[in-house]
Amino acid sequence: MAVHLLLAFSVALSPRESIISGPSTPMPPSKDPWYSTPDNFEQAAPGTILRIRHAPGNLPSIVGSNCSAAYNILYRTTDSQYKPSWSVTTLFAPSIQPGSTNRPGSSVLSYQFPYNSVDVDSSPSYAVYSTPWHDLTYALGHGWFVNVPDFEGPLASDVAAIEEAHAVLDSFRAIMEAGVGVAPDARLALWGYSGGSIASEWALEFQEQYAPELNIIGAALGGLVPNTTYVFDTVGDTEFASHGMAGLLGVTSQYPAAYSYIISQLKTSGPYNKTGFLSIRNMSYEQAHATFANQNMYDYFVGGRAVMQAPLVKRALQLNTIMTYHGVPQTPLFIYKAIHDEVTPVNQTDDYVHRSCSLGVNILYERNTVGGHEDEFVNGEGRALAWLETVLDGSYEQHPISGCEIRNVSVSSVNTGIY
Ligand SMILES: *[C@@H]1O[C@H](CO)[C@@H](O)[C@H](O)[C@H]1NC(C)=O
Ligand SMILES: *[C@@H]1O[C@H](CO)[C@@H](O)[C@H](O)[C@H]1NC(C)=O
Ligand SMILES: *[C@@H]1O[C@H](CO)[C@@H](O)[C@H](O)[C@H]1NC(C)=O
Ligand SMILES: *[C@@H]1O[C@H](CO)[C@@H](O)[C@H](O)[C@H]1NC(C)=O
Ligand SMILES: *[C@@H]1O[C@H](CO)[C@@H](O)[C@H](O)[C@H]1NC(C)=O
Ligand SMILES: *[C@@H]1O[C@H](CO)[C@@H](O)[C@H](O)[C@H]1NC(C)=O
Repeated sequence: MAVHLLLAFSVALSPRESIISGPSTPMPPSKDPWYSTPDNFEQAAPGTILRIRHAPGNLPSIVGSNCSAAYNILYRTTDSQYKPSWSVTTLFAPSIQPGSTNRPGSSVLSYQFPYNSVDVDSSPSYAVYSTPWHDLTYALGHGWFVNVPDFEGPLASDVAAIEEAHAVLDSFRAIMEAGVGVAPDARLALWGYSGGSIASEWALEFQEQYAPELNIIGAALGGLVPNTTYVFDTVGDTEFASHGMAGLLGVTSQYPAAYSYIISQLKTSGPYNKTGFLSIRNMSYEQAHATFANQNMYDYFVGGRAVMQAPLVKRALQLNTIMTYHGVPQTPLFIYKAIHDEVTPVNQTDDYVHRSCSLGVNILYERNTVGGHEDEFVNGEGRALAWLETVLDGSYEQHPISGCEIRNVSVSSVNTGIY
């Protein structure tokens, strides 16, 4: 009976027959001609679907039995300079219904995967074939649709937060229009850690001005990065050094003059040269992390850190790396952070929380005494999912929390309930 209801609902809404099949073998985005725009796409409104297909291969079988279908949707969005652009999202449909009080299609979780790479072939729509995501199957297991946008867009603009915000918001518009079962009044929630928290938080900052019609009702943000420019400085000479290099190239990829300037300032000889620096453009985060660990990106520039002070570069960074510069979220937040985070210090997140609370944002903020930046990715997962569950099943709105609550917790992965 339950299965029949779900099918009837989906078919009624869906032009599924018109959705083309993807190739039997997934191809990297840089080689797959599907990743391109039709003529005059610039005329389409933000969020308009430009192409839609069943994801290549048999993606539902890779994700597991909680997934009934997976779609790639290519949609119109807007870049950091407010010009028409495009991106791709992957939408996963659940094979089971949400909890008793909810209709099929009534809940969508948008998961911003922290790909931290300036190689478009690391985009989640392709990386999903080689990355096991147990939280994805878990979310589908609640009957939620799961939306996974390639939020860095076609230039793999890591850290380019304005472009990322637009790409996330427009991915919601696109999935609502896809006719594959997402209800028009669906509850939309966001989840992201670190690089994924940047895309998620900025989407919330921009929602009011860019996509006020979207029914976004909450977000879980882990390893928050309130000032990415600060991170570029602090990761030098640490194992996380590649974040600075990918971030600087990623932000400036949205500003061609700043990008050319950066490249013109790279040394052409010596051990820290242009060829070495730019090789990151063909690396996944894991490869870059290993290759550039303990280096200092400023060693690659003729004037060292002065490259950051050039007005073109400074402006791109100011516009894309400081949270609460453009606005504050209008939805309740769950924020979780390791007190000993070595990539982005906890006191900047403390400041972010105090500032946002004073402006009326409702926040539950948990500071974890256990672990560092990478540990909290895992340690926070269970708490984030539990909080998102209250938002997406509607129980949060029946007992909304007003104001902010800050707690110190001590949680390690052994007691998250997921592992
Ligand atoms: C499906 O989701 C349920 C509930 O979240 C979970 O317990 C189960 O492990 C998931 N199944 C798979 C195959 O991942
Ligand atoms: C962000 O970090 C940079 C680099 O440390 C610093 O110069 C800047 O003042 C910081 N901005 C804010 C708003 O905290
Ligand atoms: C550039 O750096 C690489 C190491 O990253 C080195 O192998 C190569 O010889 C250097 N090239 C020049 C011209 O110095
Ligand atoms: C490396 O990346 C650049 C720019 O992102 C691209 O033009 C080039 O084709 C890539 N090279 C390889 C070998 O994939
Ligand atoms: C954060 O703490 C560091 C010392 O760990 C200090 O230098 C810095 O001024 C503090 N920043 C803020 C925003 O409180
Ligand atoms: C959390 O711990 C810090 C020390 O790390 C302390 O200053 C703060 O008062 C504690 N906060 C709460 C809400 O208990």
